[in-house]
Amino acid sequence: MLKGKRIAVIGTGYVGLVSGACFAYLGHRVIGLDVDTNKIERLKRGEVPIYEPGLDRILKKAIEDGNIEFTTDYSYAVKNADYIFIAVGTPSREDGSADLSYVESAYRSIAEFIDGDDFKVIVNKSTVPVGTGRWAKEFIAGLLREKGVKEPEKRFEVVSNPEFLREGKAVEDFMNPDRVVVGADNREVAGLVASLYEPLQPPILITDLPTAEMIKYASNAFLATKISFINEIANVCEKLGADVTVVARGMGLDHRISPHFLRAGCGFGGSCFPKDVKALIHTAKSVGEEPRLLESVIEVNERQKLRPVEKLLKHIPDLEGRTVAVWGLAFKPETDDMREAPSIPIIRELLARGATVKAYDPVAVENARRVFEKELHTHPQRLIFTSDMYSALEGADALILVTEWPQFKEVDFDKLRGKVVIDGRNLWNPTLMRKYCTYESIGRS
Ligand code: UDX
Repeated sequence: MLKGKRIAVIGTGYVGLVSGACFAYLGHRVIGLDVDTNKIERLKRGEVPIYEPGLDRILKKAIEDGNIEFTTDYSYAVKNADYIFIAVGTPSREDGSADLSYVESAYRSIAEFIDGDDFKVIVNKSTVPVGTGRWAKEFIAGLLREKGVKEPEKRFEVVSNPEFLREGKAVEDFMNPDRVVVGADNREVAGLVASLYEPLQPPILITDLPTAEMIKYASNAFLATKISFINEIANVCEKLGADVTVVARGMGLDHRISPHFLRAGCGFGGSCFPKDVKALIHTAKSVGEEPRLLESVIEVNERQKLRPVEKLLKHIPDLEGRTVAVWGLAFKPETDDMREAPSIPIIRELLARGATVKAYDPVAVENARRVFEKELHTHPQRLIFTSDMYSALEGADALILVTEWPQFKEVDFDKLRGKVVIDGRNLWNPTLMRKYCTYESIGRS
């Protein structure tokens, strides 16, 4: 029987909420804290403010078991927890570096409520630049010293425990981790944090602080590199009559390569890959390195996002007055997240070329309206969001598939008859599609 540990999670975004709910589900006693009162009120009522499959079920069970509560009160959260997880945002700044202002403000609020006889384990779950953990130790110790706490270093330890959660699969990933990485200068404390995951029996890697921080960046950068790599290969395949999907399968059978993250398409988006690769580039440069490979990963990706429009122009060179349907707006299926989604530059390019865009996504339309607020204002007649996939096709000369939601796979082929279809995710069978429409995909001639 698990002896539940007292955990606070600062930040109830998708990482914080998923981690908090899953820890509570495992039997720990969790306090979720956010500065957003509205969000906390919703969570108290058991409402899940984000779209994340399985999260509502886990959260409901945790609430029923009395293992999770929500608050906006730092004093309450810090006093009633031994482990304080930081899961606040670290957005990109203009120059690509990570903006640590939310993390810093969380450290300040935590330090305010640490007393002279406490020992708190402060765990960074947010992705923070390599070196942040060691800096945080000095920063928090300084804050404690300022308020008169004696031997502040003995009152807390900072630990890095990066998350590897995919949106849309975050609960599944938390519950079945490939590994749990815990980095700390104090190995004993690292072991305590690792033991929170004991019920999951994951492979555990205990490291020092900067190494754990780097594992997160290097992992995301490597996966992003695989995607840009296969996209570059796809573009060459097209010209030579090779099929990139089969090339990827052939490569993936080599266990040193693995078949994952080799799906060619119209580029990667999301809240992690673009931001983390840019932050790693920034960090590398700040220590005098020239991270050419990483820079190319971003460059290839930016170009790849517009590949579907280039393909469309081969068939309809002048888009002025033409109508283009776009299926899939979120950066990937099973999420309503629009951050860095390839649909954004694609739709902007189509509008800039004079086309009318009819766009559909099963869950991301509301967020898309916010992203395209300016365009909806400037071209109210030329950007239309539809409530079902087939309405987007009405009157359309062409269709671009940007996000491979499963429901698009089961398309009624008759509805595509005579149109130009650009399949940005290699979702459909080319031979079958060519019976109905002018069809192009990525890396398959
Ligand atoms: C990613 C990491 O997988 C996760 O470990 C990390 O913690 C956060 O970032 P996420 O951004 O949710 O997760 O999505 P993921 O499923 O990894 O896909 C990222 C992007 O890459 C998507 O836009 C997806 O369409 C694209 N992708 C993925 C490809 O283009 N090809 C692939 O083979 C795989």
